[in-house]
Amino acid sequence: MRIDILTILPGLLNGPFHHSILKRAQEKNIAEIHVHDLRKWSTDKHRRVDDYAFGGEAGMVMMIEPIDRAISQLKAERKYDEIIYTSPDGELFNQSLANQLSLMNNILILCGHYKGVDHRVREHLITREISIGDYVLTGGELAAAVITDAIVRLLPGALSDGSSALSDSFQDNLLAPPVYTRPAEYNGWKVPEVLLSGDHKKIEEWKMQQSLERTKKLRPDLLKKYEDE
Ligand code: ADE
Repeated sequence: MRIDILTILPGLLNGPFHHSILKRAQEKNIAEIHVHDLRKWSTDKHRRVDDYAFGGEAGMVMMIEPIDRAISQLKAERKYDEIIYTSPDGELFNQSLANQLSLMNNILILCGHYKGVDHRVREHLITREISIGDYVLTGGELAAAVITDAIVRLLPGALSDGSSALSDSFQDNLLAPPVYTRPAEYNGWKVPEVLLSGDHKKIEEWKMQQSLERTKKLRPDLLKKYEDE
């Protein structure tokens, strides 16, 4: 899978994709992540990509021209399944959306900034708008990093234990059960006996019961979704 990210702050995205699972997924050619500096497509001599808003609104607006030039060039090189704009007023990102996007071949993410983009970008160039939560970030780069991370770890072969992505919290609208490792007792705090029993059936039952209890206590909204499905 290939993910292209268009941003005015490419430096902000240097870190997240060069460590751990995302780094390994790229080395194994499971994922290709390309970060592009939007200013490359500016025709302005100062490489500006923003301008004042019409109508006297405060704050700068990202111009349509460099964005259109960038998207057109990338689209000429490959077909994108989705062209996503990160914005606090987009559809809320969740595990189900991450699963859907992980099945695609090519996606392009445009990171929003300032007051936003010229609305014609949203009307004509974008296929989907995604928010990572009901709060406002200074820009869409961290949202793009979150979306990319959640997608790439789902790609076959990205996790060393392929089954573990399926047992994540949210994968079936339930929170994951607690996990423990050695020592079996620390400071008098014991690991639940059942996990040391070797009885796989009992262990699975315990995990399910823990998932249900934790979801009921911490995320009753998810439990309702689980019961409805
Ligand atoms: N840009 C600013 N805030 C955002 C959010 N919550 N999600 C996605 N993009 C954003």
